Amino acid sequence: MPFAGVAREYAALRSAVDAAIRAVLASGRVVRGPSIARFERAWARFLGVEHVVLVHSGTTALAAALAAAGVRPGDEVVLPALTFAATAEAVLALGAVPVVVDVAPDTLLLDIDAALRTVGPRTRAVVPVHLYGQPHPQLERLARELRLRRVALVEDACQAHGAVAPGARCGVRGTAAAFSFYPTKNLATYGEAGAVATGDARLAARVRAWRDHGDARRGVRPGVGLNLWPGEIEAVILCVKLPYLRAWNARRRATARRYDRALAGHAALRPVANVVGTRHVYHQYVVRARDRDRWRARLAAAGIETAVHYPRALPDRPGLAGRVRMRGGCPNARAAAREVFGVPIHPWLTEAERRRVAAALAGK
Ligand SMILES: Cc1ncc(COP(=O)(O)O)c(C=O)c1O
Repeated sequence: MPFAGVAREYAALRSAVDAAIRAVLASGRVVRGPSIARFERAWARFLGVEHVVLVHSGTTALAAALAAAGVRPGDEVVLPALTFAATAEAVLALGAVPVVVDVAPDTLLLDIDAALRTVGPRTRAVVPVHLYGQPHPQLERLARELRLRRVALVEDACQAHGAVAPGARCGVRGTAAAFSFYPTKNLATYGEAGAVATGDARLAARVRAWRDHGDARRGVRPGVGLNLWPGEIEAVILCVKLPYLRAWNARRRATARRYDRALAGHAALRPVANVVGTRHVYHQYVVRARDRDRWRARLAAAGIETAVHYPRALPDRPGLAGRVRMRGGCPNARAAAREVFGVPIHPWLTEAERRRVAAALAGK
């Protein structure tokens, strides 16, 4: 049973996806065509935010959002110790310093108190991550506190398409947010793409300028940028798939409830806590086990593929060790990195497969 559902999803959507790709190819507008603006409008409408700028990955979306929010070389950016490397890489790419703080022990989401204690005179932004598709439950408080301190809040919503934190969708609460449309994400293209979402017209204009070699048509001084454009085919695939996102997320949640029931009172496995009152979209369904390798082997023997996101906390990751600054020992992130693993949860699991995963998890 594959961990990701990319091939199954394409099999289900094949005729619509193929037709859309053929239309792009036949038009000759394979870059910078109308599908990019069409998806930007559709994603902005879905989120309830004013501006979306499509770029070529979630990593570039993060870097562009941070740069447009004013992060400069030498500035500090606070982020959680348990996340994908890209959250820190985006900061390093700007010559800024990632300062990592611990996560809450139950949700594995940024510890807001630790983050606020860490904010100092050189802090330019804080980046909470909606890890595994779980909206950070205290985003409102974080936004309020950061506004008072004039520090930007840039959400890493790369795993949280359609997730809802109390009062607002992920991606609309802060100064800006970054999304990834990497092929395994809840909403994904068949290639690479990402987006910056923001309510700030000037910030959006800065990202657009940076996306296009510094070319600025709307009120931003011309400068030097890069080429951050996604392809037209990536965008048209997103246009085809967006109408299904709500149903796919609902299916992921229903599968998660089933796995939760299988794990109720379990002696050796426990799921990462889901905060009541938020709408988790289960990009991953993640459980914790002291003897992770044994459990993964057991599931593999039952034909169930599993995956570890992430085997090391950021300060322990080769390449990042020594380049990120750590506040406190980050014991919760480090313990989680030793214990977590994910089981298949994509919307294309059959009834029999969901049952098999639940039964394998329930085994003592
Ligand atoms: C939390 C997080 N941040 C950033 C990224 C980077 O996105 P991309 O792979 O599209 O560059 C990802 C995606 O893999 C992610 O999961």
